[in-house]
Amino acid sequence: MAIEQTFSILKPDATARNLTGAINALIEQAGLRIVAQKRVRITREQAETFYAVHRERPFFGELVDFMISGPVVVQVLEGDNAIVRYRDIMGATDPAKAAPGTIRKVHAKSIGENSVHGSDAPDTAAKEIAQFFSDNEIVG
Ligand code: CMP
Repeated sequence: MAIEQTFSILKPDATARNLTGAINALIEQAGLRIVAQKRVRITREQAETFYAVHRERPFFGELVDFMISGPVVVQVLEGDNAIVRYRDIMGATDPAKAAPGTIRKVHAKSIGENSVHGSDAPDTAAKEIAQFFSDNEIVG
């Protein structure tokens, strides 16, 4: 199994409820390593760039407004098969459909305020990591 890196965001609903540590514990207990992390407020431009693939979706404006409504924690997670594994640990996008014990089942409020983002494929992971981190900020 290949060691991979994936990009994660702890979203404003999570930071507002002081859940950074609780979510990080679920990530670490599942065997992924947090090899970079910073708490930031992203700009509207950064959010629009990050979610550009969803630009035509009806929820795009709501999504961008939400992502800039408070601080987020951006992270790089590392481990065997990290991209797929983090998606398993997060659970389904809609918390009502997420499996028991997943981050979204335990903590998310709704499909919009769903606590975490994780990359969906190797190419998007590389692109998302590069939007927020330089190489020397990632320490494995
Ligand atoms: P994320 O994994 O960050 O990628 C895109 C985000 O769009 C997704 O998580 C959800 O938070 C959000 N999203 C998807 N569907 C909806 C929806 N119907 N209404 C609001 N937000 C949505």
